[in-house]
Amino acid sequence: MNTKEKLAELTQLNPICFGHSSITALTGPDFGLRVDDSIQSSIGSVLNCDNANDMISIQKEHLKNSPHNIPLLFMADIIHGFKTIFPIPIALGCTFSPENAKKSSQVAAKESAVSGIHVTFSPMADLVRDPRWGRVMESTGEDPYLNSLMSAYSVLGYQGDNVADKYNIVSCVKHFAGYGVPEGGREYNTVELSNATLHDMFLPAYRSALEAGAKMIMTSFNTINRVPASSNSYLLQDLLRKEWGFDGVVISDFNSIDEVINHGVAQNGYEAAEKCLNASVDIEMMSTHYIDTIEQVINDGLLEENALDNAVMRVLELKNQLGLFENPYKDANIEEENTIHLCKEHRELARNIAHESAVLLKNDNVLPISNGKKIGLVGPFACSPHVLGGWSAGSTKGVSLYEGLLEEFAPEDILLSATDELGSMFDNIYDIPNISSNLIDDLHQCDTVIVALGENQQDTGEGASKTNLRLSPNQELLVKTLKESGKKIVTVIFSGRPLEIKPIVDYSDSILQAWFLGTESGNAITDLLLGKANPSAKLSMSFPVTVGQIPVYYNCTNTGRPKANTPKERYVSKYLDCPNEPLYPFGFGLSYSTFEISNLEISTVEKITASVCVKNTSTIKGNETVQLYIRDLTSSVSRPLKELKGFSKVTLDANESTTVSFDITKDMLSFYTETSKVFEKGYFDIMIGNSSDNLLQKNIYVDENIL
Ligand code: BGC
Repeated sequence: MNTKEKLAELTQLNPICFGHSSITALTGPDFGLRVDDSIQSSIGSVLNCDNANDMISIQKEHLKNSPHNIPLLFMADIIHGFKTIFPIPIALGCTFSPENAKKSSQVAAKESAVSGIHVTFSPMADLVRDPRWGRVMESTGEDPYLNSLMSAYSVLGYQGDNVADKYNIVSCVKHFAGYGVPEGGREYNTVELSNATLHDMFLPAYRSALEAGAKMIMTSFNTINRVPASSNSYLLQDLLRKEWGFDGVVISDFNSIDEVINHGVAQNGYEAAEKCLNASVDIEMMSTHYIDTIEQVINDGLLEENALDNAVMRVLELKNQLGLFENPYKDANIEEENTIHLCKEHRELARNIAHESAVLLKNDNVLPISNGKKIGLVGPFACSPHVLGGWSAGSTKGVSLYEGLLEEFAPEDILLSATDELGSMFDNIYDIPNISSNLIDDLHQCDTVIVALGENQQDTGEGASKTNLRLSPNQELLVKTLKESGKKIVTVIFSGRPLEIKPIVDYSDSILQAWFLGTESGNAITDLLLGKANPSAKLSMSFPVTVGQIPVYYNCTNTGRPKANTPKERYVSKYLDCPNEPLYPFGFGLSYSTFEISNLEISTVEKITASVCVKNTSTIKGNETVQLYIRDLTSSVSRPLKELKGFSKVTLDANESTTVSFDITKDMLSFYTETSKVFEKGYFDIMIGNSSDNLLQKNIYVDENIL
């Protein structure tokens, strides 16, 4: 290969550049990017082509012209399913089930593989703390341990044992690193993180995905501690390549090599390309600075030809591992698209995972409701099929709540009112119409009203930061009006982020946080509302009382002046007008069953084991997620008040009890100071319970001898 061909191999363009219009998404600037015809035939990969027909024709055409017969790699954003859409990742996190991450990723891999996709840009392992940021929906939440497990299992699901095998695709973990905490929650904004926090909280999930075998990683848009992630030689060279030993492919984010110029770290494309390739970003996504400038960079002695060759080899090696040199179409198959996409088995799994994803936040004896009586159904999500959640590449509609309820209720028993859909802020629509004065008349025959509220799914995801997290005024008014008329209110919230729902809590007898549950949304919510499925999900991200508290997350450190018990004390760390605690914390979620966790015991014979007794104190079979948290009381740096270190999801029959134990390892007690992980002997609080704010606690002393 000559140098130009090598550089083209490192360039990723979308299908438009190949004369095709079908793309699942274009999430960045479209500069009408084109390359010379002489280069086009050597381009290495395609972004977001979404069907077998186009893939096959692009690949065929490409191979006719490719000077070295090198097939194209097809990459796409398969984030929470391809055609069968699963709950959005923040909701998947609430299942506390790595197995769900694996199974849903397996299905996503199969459905996209038959459409000709070889690589998915998933999982997003970015830890999140700020619900103003639209992309919290793509993360599994605020905890590094949960994120690590979910990311690793997603990788296992996508890639299987061997990516060359049928229906497996390559997983590209993203966005390296720290993209999840842009200042002010504003998209693409600056990230500042101490090394200790970066290592302790933000890096583990990316690393865990790589340890699970992810063959690719994507850089992020942001600067981190002043250096753009895409040209960050500390992150990419020192840490990723040298310390972690990653020898797979690094890809930039969409145009993020070019954006190094806007960050003010390169004057032009030449400098940006030099910095990013030297930092070891192999593939340039949707800009062409490598093609345009790297020959000159090499001639100027600023990059070794060897570095270019290594990057090209990594890409070719990936193609080889996928078996593309033998079969450039891999699993692309138009007939199989018809039989596999949205098949019964996939939808069933999506429905079951959705049962485990929706979080019951409040229940004052209203749920489950029974069919047979008349119910009211109101609000912008009552009949809306737009419930898949952003990044649902291959599908547009899911089962609406109304459609789901119609499976259980006679049409005349569902009284509809005020069901206008909520528009998107991108169209300058901020609210539903004023509620009509007929509302109560429409609903007079029923006692219980399901109020389906939320935010438009388009107002979540990339480029959807917000400063106001309240439901729109008319939605708040809707709940209040209904409650004041004496109805029992079941509020179902559709959102891609924790919203500020405090204003409607008192007007709701029950609240189900449904997030966006994907294809089977309406069916799964109906199952939950009727008790055909018992809620078991736990929040993967804290819900703020007010936007002014953000960031509010459970694994924070103490201050020198923690909040005192005496309310009058002035000089302590608190707000005058709001509690420090979130409205609903990480790990919280109710069930129709009730559970009692008792008898925390810690044994230090040979190893450290903590155990509790868990009892289902109700007459309903249910699942409880027993959570282990640890606090290191004194160490060389300030440590979080509690950190999740283990969990176990148990299923218990009515009145059944069991013992749940956790082995406490040295790794669980270790932490990062600056860049190295250390264990320091001392006192630790061991806490077990069913929410980060409902824990039994014991204190133990641990030194090397016990571990
Ligand atoms: C997003 C990535 C995505 C890429 C390709 C970017 O705008 O940040 O998450 O994978 O586009 O579509």
